[in-house]
Amino acid sequence: MGGYDRAMNTRQPLKVAILGSGKGSNAQAIMDAIQAGHLNARVVCVLSDVADAGILERARRNGIPAEFVDAAPFKTKLDGEGEQRYLRALRRHGAEVIALAGFMRLIKSGLLQAFANRILNIHPALLPAFPGVASWKQAVDYGVKVAGCTVHFVDAGTDSGPIILQKTVTVFDTDTPATLHARIQEQEHLAFPEALQLLAENRVRVAGRVVRIAPQE
Ligand code: GAR
Repeated sequence: MGGYDRAMNTRQPLKVAILGSGKGSNAQAIMDAIQAGHLNARVVCVLSDVADAGILERARRNGIPAEFVDAAPFKTKLDGEGEQRYLRALRRHGAEVIALAGFMRLIKSGLLQAFANRILNIHPALLPAFPGVASWKQAVDYGVKVAGCTVHFVDAGTDSGPIILQKTVTVFDTDTPATLHARIQEQEHLAFPEALQLLAENRVRVAGRVVRIAPQE
């Protein structure tokens, strides 16, 4: 049974780095959960590959170090010099765990090895259905009746790593991609803090691709 083990450290707040490319509503939900005392964590930094992303502004408003970190030379993955820049920033801020909150790049081996079993992603679909982009539109176009979100560990594939938790929403006949995404996001905002709290409590065990949650002490 593997996984990230913070055995003796569970009273200490989990040191989370958030990476995102967009408006940052998930980052806000994580910061709010910490503020409300539901999540024993500290956001050590928010990093974005988009200079004017809303997620950076939200972090600054919450007094959290926020940096645009150039991910060049690649456009859809984090590799090479860009990956090195992220690794340096993550180490400088003392990140223990990475939360991908709408970070729209594939993660490659350098980061995966440096943070093995310590990179979480939130995906707006019930994986393994609808990996990739605009999953809420894929769900509406396919005609599924139940949609949702998934928090999973990141591996070398696309949205394919071990699943930590999922939350569902009903799809209505009247849904558009936008209305469905809004309801999925409400569930994301509950799911991501919940998954991080499980890590903070050292309750997450990974066996192959199956995650088991240990009972509360
Ligand atoms: C979220 O819905 C997240 O699930 C999605 O991007 C959005 C970011 O929103 N991620 C992906 O599609 C990754 N494949 P936010 O910036 O408001 O948190």
